[in-house]
Amino acid sequence: TIKDLYKRIVNPPRTVQNVNGWIRSVRLMKKMAFLDIQDGSCLETLKIAIPIKQSDETIFLKRLKTGQSICIASAQWQETPQREQPFELKIEDPLQSISIRGNVTENYPLQKKNHSLLFLRSLPTLKHRTMYLGSLMRFRSFIEQRLMNVLQSDDFVKVSPPVLTSSDCEGAGELFEVKTASSKNYFGKPCYLTVSTQLHLEILAMSLSRCYTLTPCFRAERSDTNRHLSEFWMLELEMCFINDVRSLTTVLESILRRLIESCLERSSELIPEVTLQECLSREDVINRWKMLLNPEPWKLITYTEAINMLSEKHKIKPFEKYEPKWGEPLQTEHEKWLAEAHFQSPVFITDYPRDCKAFYMKTNTPSIPGKETVACFDLLFPEMGEIAGGSIREDNYNALAHEMHRRGMNSSGELDWYLLLRREGSVPHGGFGLGIERLISYLFGNHNIRDAIAFQRSATGTID
Ligand code: 4AD
Ligand code: MG
Repeated sequence: TIKDLYKRIVNPPRTVQNVNGWIRSVRLMKKMAFLDIQDGSCLETLKIAIPIKQSDETIFLKRLKTGQSICIASAQWQETPQREQPFELKIEDPLQSISIRGNVTENYPLQKKNHSLLFLRSLPTLKHRTMYLGSLMRFRSFIEQRLMNVLQSDDFVKVSPPVLTSSDCEGAGELFEVKTASSKNYFGKPCYLTVSTQLHLEILAMSLSRCYTLTPCFRAERSDTNRHLSEFWMLELEMCFINDVRSLTTVLESILRRLIESCLERSSELIPEVTLQECLSREDVINRWKMLLNPEPWKLITYTEAINMLSEKHKIKPFEKYEPKWGEPLQTEHEKWLAEAHFQSPVFITDYPRDCKAFYMKTNTPSIPGKETVACFDLLFPEMGEIAGGSIREDNYNALAHEMHRRGMNSSGELDWYLLLRREGSVPHGGFGLGIERLISYLFGNHNIRDAIAFQRSATGTID
């Protein structure tokens, strides 16, 4: 690969055989031709210089076009100390050495200049061949692998919970139902694509103490924003023997800090130096990482404190759409103000009102009737908003049964499999879910999580 060639700079070979790639650009002059080749293995491209000696070579070289896949059978290594890149390959006999593997159509849409992401999103079959989106896919691979390494080293066991399920974990009714192609139920039973694997993770945590998963989750939400997908990936972890939200935020912050440190060590490999105009430059990306790595621990405030701060600010300069009110969910403009304008750093918001959150969260005690809060947190990043959310789970059978009843849930015992876990050696436990595309998009300096997944699924996108 081209990556292998760059590794050989310290001890370059004289000749190189069988180089494969796609042409990024061709420059044909009277006496010389220059090719720029990419193969997706790294940020670098490979420059090829071809001295032209005969007219049949010119005729052949005129057939080379951006986007074609080619194979170079043999070429000479040539150092180029005067130019940007440290070396190039020289081809003495292009007719013998270059073969065109796959041609392109007349209208190959990815000519060299930078295209807008909006345009690229309309080309799901070709867009990953651009340097920007190719590096975003490699970045995703790096992030997933690092997250797994960090969790394994913290003794979390990787598990694989199901994607097909009968329950709505978040109780928000955003389920996709699974039917056979002839519109029959799943073997006569209700079946949905999972919105979160948490309920199954809780079962596994009760045998493994600490477990995690990285799985696709599905939500039938119509929100057409740059932060919502109908199919996205979530890193979820669950751990036993913890009582308070602080234990969870500490684990999450430590995982993310170690992840970002390893990004920083590899920044020149991960982030293209020249990015698209609409995205952060490498320098700005690194500054964003450094902001996250600020030695001061990330801010942590309760929901009630947040509402007080937001109300103060509202008195001075009102929010555009929503007045902050205790008992109401925080709106995007509120979250933006907190993380971006006020703290300018990540912030954990804890202990939301019980009715703003899902049924499984543990109610804080003592509580004021009508003002109950739950032991939970959301992690907000500036310019992205919510990246992760989690909670301590209600581990008491009676308390959970009562809360489910209060919400009109489990009337036909459909969640008994989950509830009854509280009857068999129940322990205090909790966990969280981290949106992988939101994290990747943010760390890469991109503004739309649709670019952080290879094939986006959303209410407005096409489906292949
Ligand atoms: O806050 P959520 O809904 O939490 C849960 O599902 C919990 N059961 C997780 C747990 O405790 N194990 O989702 C968690 C994260 C969000 O913070 C967000 O980053 C991401 O998942 N997320 C989405 N990402 C992209 N598109 C969507 N439609 C998303 N919905 C949630
Ligand atoms: Mg949430």
